[in-house]
Amino acid sequence: MRKLTVALLSGGISSEREVSLNSGKQVHEALDKDKYTVVEYDPKTDLPRLVADAEKIDVALVILHGPYGEDGTVQGLLDLLGIPYQGAGVLGSAVAMNKLVSKQLYHQAGLPVPPYVVLQRGDVVRPDDLSNRLGLPLVVKPVEGGSSVGMSIVRGVEGLEAAVEKALAYDRSVLVEAFIEGTEVTGGVLGNDRPEALPLIEIIPGDGYEFFDYEAKYKPGATREICPARIDESLAEKARSYAVAAHLALACRGYSRTDMIVKDGDIYVLETNTIPGMTATSLFPQAAAAAGLPFGPLLDRLIELSLESHSRGR
Ligand SMILES: Nc1ncnc2c1ncn2[C@@H]1O[C@H](COP(=O)(O)OP(=O)(O)O)[C@@H](O)[C@H]1O
Ligand SMILES: [Mg+2]
Repeated sequence: MRKLTVALLSGGISSEREVSLNSGKQVHEALDKDKYTVVEYDPKTDLPRLVADAEKIDVALVILHGPYGEDGTVQGLLDLLGIPYQGAGVLGSAVAMNKLVSKQLYHQAGLPVPPYVVLQRGDVVRPDDLSNRLGLPLVVKPVEGGSSVGMSIVRGVEGLEAAVEKALAYDRSVLVEAFIEGTEVTGGVLGNDRPEALPLIEIIPGDGYEFFDYEAKYKPGATREICPARIDESLAEKARSYAVAAHLALACRGYSRTDMIVKDGDIYVLETNTIPGMTATSLFPQAAAAAGLPFGPLLDRLIELSLESHSRGR
């Protein structure tokens, strides 16, 4: 069989550039060289070359996180060039990148989200009002962000203004959310027509980490990840169905990974990642492996799903 030419996109210009380069390297290593000729492109420098090579490219693997990678912009370029790619298209990518629009769509789909307030740049921050409405602690995060960049947990009202200021450095809107103290789980979903939930992973940031922050996410050994999550099966079933419902509500495609917090019998949806971390030990690949799909075959499957969905049009 003819080898497929795979354009591997990693790097980019978001704050998650390093994470993306790391994933890109591991994806490159794991791709079966008997099946694929892999050509790398870093959108930071190589977009003209990507456009020039478009005719020769069979499929792209977009291993980019955050703005200008995971938000629909690169997906739009690939659509214009007629290149199939894995995962969500322009709409799903843009929607999932925006945590406010995502919340509105989750809500419409009947998925519970932590109570929240949105603040825009220029708004007056009223710490007492916010804590009266949402309680304490609070989580402050940029509306469009990722990898916990610009995010803070605020335990007393006195820290609120600085936390909002910090998040506003990354985006013109920020979310102030009730902090849900519970068990964090993440739910992968895979497939085109009838996307299926993968086993849940439980995330336990190590001592010294208040939450799953940037360091807890990427420093080896900083976080324990347990698959399948140690929660009651009926609750796990519900969380898996929420992951699928979130995927559909946000118009995702092919795969996604939804972060949730389980507290007592309730599940709160935090966000959906349309390009989840893609090192061999990242959460989505771990969940896929637990479902019988190791890293290399997972990449084969993502490529198959991309080609299938492209062949049917958008
Ligand atoms: N409302 C919340 N309650 C408790 N923990 C939260 C809440 N929001 C975020 N977190 C913690 O912060 C981490 C990152 O938040 P998330 O909304 O997933 O954004 P991102 O991963 O895109 O930065 C979560 O994995 C979780 O550990
Ligand atoms: Mg997250």
